[in-house]
Amino acid sequence: MSDVSVTKDTIPAAEADALVALSNVNKHFGALHVLQDIDLTIARGEVVVVIGPSGSGKSTLCRTINRLESVDSGSITLDGKPLPAEGRELARLRADVGMVFQSFNLFAHKTVLENVMLGQIKVRKKDKAEAEQSARALLDRVGVANQADKYPAQLSGGQQQRVAIARALAMEPKVMLFDEPTSALDPEMINEVLEVMQQLARDGMTMVVVTHEMGFARSAANRVVFMADGQIVEQATPEQFFTNPRSDRAKDFLSKILHH
Ligand SMILES: Nc1ncnc2c1ncn2[C@@H]1O[C@H](COP(=O)(O)OP(=O)(O)OP(=O)(O)O)[C@@H](O)[C@H]1O
Ligand SMILES: [Mg+2]
Repeated sequence: MSDVSVTKDTIPAAEADALVALSNVNKHFGALHVLQDIDLTIARGEVVVVIGPSGSGKSTLCRTINRLESVDSGSITLDGKPLPAEGRELARLRADVGMVFQSFNLFAHKTVLENVMLGQIKVRKKDKAEAEQSARALLDRVGVANQADKYPAQLSGGQQQRVAIARALAMEPKVMLFDEPTSALDPEMINEVLEVMQQLARDGMTMVVVTHEMGFARSAANRVVFMADGQIVEQATPEQFFTNPRSDRAKDFLSKILHH
């Protein structure tokens, strides 16, 4: 480690146990400066909800953390180590950083059980029996144990999304990223997915969650990060953010989403 004694006193408590740290991250898509000088530190066990207008860079931010997107400058570390760029190390990173998308992304030609077993065998090198045992336990944990032998298309959207969560958890990730995991669901299925996420948060999982579900943000988040135009405009506890947003951008955004 380099000598950081000069700045040590100024590092907030949360950074002392940083699991994910983005420092001065910039990214462009052509002329669009989609991530602008992003500094964000996520502590072990912390639940961070990211909100902001469409196009503000929330998904791109998430995708940089498991290197589905590269960055132009700045650094991103997981557990103190820079993200690997390629090869076996990259496959391991994708396992260490679980991701759940708006669309469920399950393997259509594999059963639910196989979906949750596959990565354990291929990436984590577990034997089949061990993988099956943990897959069944995880399916039970997310409430779909009785669907194990079905194919994804035979499940409801809420059930599929819970399988997607189980599949990510099967890799024993260090952190879970959720990018609008309930946005594609019928309203009656949203809560069953949010409840699984709530439980995960209570169990101490480190989570970054992009969501429009403000109830979830209020009850599960340790911190709300508000993005607009590629920048982190403000960060606060949910209580502070929802009752007393500081920036005009956040006030404007909240008035639009809370009064509809
Ligand atoms: N692969 C890409 N190539 C070019 N432009 C992109 C690409 N991905 C995203 N963008 C652009 O970058 C900006 C940020 O996109 P991003 O998906 O990160 O926003 P978001 O905050 O997740 O929005 P939403 O709430 O609609 O999901 C948008 O203007 C988008 O059009
Ligand atoms: Mg998005």
